Amino acid sequence: MQFQGNLPTKLPLAGTTIFTVMSALAREHQALNMAQGFPDFACSPKLIELVNHYMKQGFNQYAPMPGVPLLRQKLSDKVSTMYSASYNPESEITIVPGGTIGLYAAISAVVRENDEVIIIEPAYDSYAPAVEMNGGKPVFVKLKPGDFSVDWNEVKNRINFRTRLIIINSPHNPTGAVLSAADMLKLEKLVEDTDIVILSDEVYEHIIFDGLEHQSVARFPKLASRSFIVGSFGKTYHNTGWKMGYVLAPENLTMEFRKIYQYMAFAANTPIQYALADYLDEQEDYLGLPVFYQQKRDYFRSLLKGTRFKLYPCQGTYFQLLGYEKISTEPDTELARTWIREHKIASIPVSVFYRDKSDHHLLRFCFAKEDATLEQAAKLLRTISDQS
Ligand SMILES: Cc1ncc(COP(=O)(O)O)c(C=O)c1O
Repeated sequence: MQFQGNLPTKLPLAGTTIFTVMSALAREHQALNMAQGFPDFACSPKLIELVNHYMKQGFNQYAPMPGVPLLRQKLSDKVSTMYSASYNPESEITIVPGGTIGLYAAISAVVRENDEVIIIEPAYDSYAPAVEMNGGKPVFVKLKPGDFSVDWNEVKNRINFRTRLIIINSPHNPTGAVLSAADMLKLEKLVEDTDIVILSDEVYEHIIFDGLEHQSVARFPKLASRSFIVGSFGKTYHNTGWKMGYVLAPENLTMEFRKIYQYMAFAANTPIQYALADYLDEQEDYLGLPVFYQQKRDYFRSLLKGTRFKLYPCQGTYFQLLGYEKISTEPDTELARTWIREHKIASIPVSVFYRDKSDHHLLRFCFAKEDATLEQAAKLLRTISDQS
């Protein structure tokens, strides 16, 4: 007998992610893709050589479930140097195939039926579905419009006996806002007498500007003792397609995390792990990222000077928000599609990062691009600004 039924969906509110939709539309209309967050320049040839080297040397079978020991050791050293924090490579660091799977496994480890999870919006689109797949209920708190800071009072008001997890993300996608040490201390205080766990999405830890320091949860021992930290090598080393990441958490949290993760992926790519272990020695590579990306941010912004776009501040990540209030009254999702078709430029409408689709007439542009790409994007945007 042929199967004819549809599967009843577990995620009634989800369609295809906006990143896939916009990238497909950009391809269809041969538009410049400033939408999805990926660099259009090459990753380090040395890193590629190292991966080749380990493949040729026969490092092609399953890695140990928690990751190659040398890579975990090197990460432990790095976190110790950068954030004065101690993570045991044996029991507190797990290498995973990308930040997204790290987020999903951490959420699965913590959230049970009817647990509430505070998600700060606008939010990366994988958090809420992961909570819902585990029977939890996302509770949304919006960043303050304008400067996109967290209203910790509002967070406090949403905490109750069901609250199990709070998800934070700094530097923040899509706004480019960054949490300060004062923010972290407020969060620490909020949860001190609770059993709430923190999930800290720090995939843009090295992309931070204007001399600001990344306030990793790892710097705050009381917070760190109840936190998962998710990192992504793809963001740091310009190779998002390799899908490599890691999760740091104290032993008691890591134990539960690994129980679940072992049945999701079991292990991450072996030769890439050996290559990354060697490549982490090149500290100047990740330490140079703030200057590298700040130049791109500043260049892109300078190219848009004098247009009718509102350039929002960007303290970190490789995303620039542009407000188009003076240019169009169309909803952002419509406008993003129209501009792909008519002006050949793709962006991400920010309303999709809100559960209630709040539309503040904002579009997100990725500036992890060659200067020539930024120039081409600015030219298209200037034409839009002049014509409208
Ligand atoms: C905020 C945020 N978290 C997590 C991820 C996922 O990282 P990865 O590509 O390593 O899965 C992304 C990627 O865009 C992101 O923007």
